Amino acid sequence: MTVVAVDGPSASGKSTISRMLAQRLGFIYVDSGAMYRTVTWKALEEGLDVNDTAQVIAMLDRIRIHFDICDQQVRMFIDGIFPGETVREPRVAEKVSIVAAIPEVRRVLVAHQRSLTQFGSLVMEGRDIGSVVFPNTPHKFYIDANPEERAKRRRKDFEAMQIATSTDGVAQALAQRDKLDSTRATSPLQVAPGATVVDNSINPPERTVEIILEQITRQQRAQ
Ligand code: CDP
Repeated sequence: MTVVAVDGPSASGKSTISRMLAQRLGFIYVDSGAMYRTVTWKALEEGLDVNDTAQVIAMLDRIRIHFDICDQQVRMFIDGIFPGETVREPRVAEKVSIVAAIPEVRRVLVAHQRSLTQFGSLVMEGRDIGSVVFPNTPHKFYIDANPEERAKRRRKDFEAMQIATSTDGVAQALAQRDKLDSTRATSPLQVAPGATVVDNSINPPERTVEIILEQITRQQRAQ
């Protein structure tokens, strides 16, 4: 079983790269951010105040989480519902870092993330995959890009979803989320020990994927 860990800040391009990598390697793609978003979506559906940690923890005890595979990607269901693209809406994005900072939420989701190797070899993207979820994998990458490029990318994502935004508003929201993710006490966003940092500001994703694949091949030869 092989796990490729891809971490990095919001809108750095890690989803595009992770999907392409999974396809090239024939591995299953896991978006761990979608799992934190799905729990946040559920809390909002229930009308909870996500700043009230006790309410979120009580919800975690109530809900049933399960997974399936569709098109070589893992999908997370809560109480039988897969919310799909809804979890990408700004209302979820605004709150997800608050929910993701709750240690109990992380404990539950990290256990689920580790269990996903039951489906086969994985490319998993997130914030703490190389540092906490699979610290022993030799294949750890940290994808970064400059803030302007990241804001432009995220604005395009929203345009594709027909959600009106401004580049400044998007840049501010990303900066706010990065700050929360990097400064939280439990599993903050960081470059995992041994991770290869890849700057994805300029290269097209195909080139970044080639660089990562070459590195994985070198690492496998060295094993
Ligand atoms: O799509 P984007 O890169 O903006 O974010 P995401 O990967 O969907 O993750 C959404 C949020 O979930 C992040 O801002 C983190 O607060 C949280 N997250 C986390 O704490 N740990 C992970 N392994 C993945 C995501």
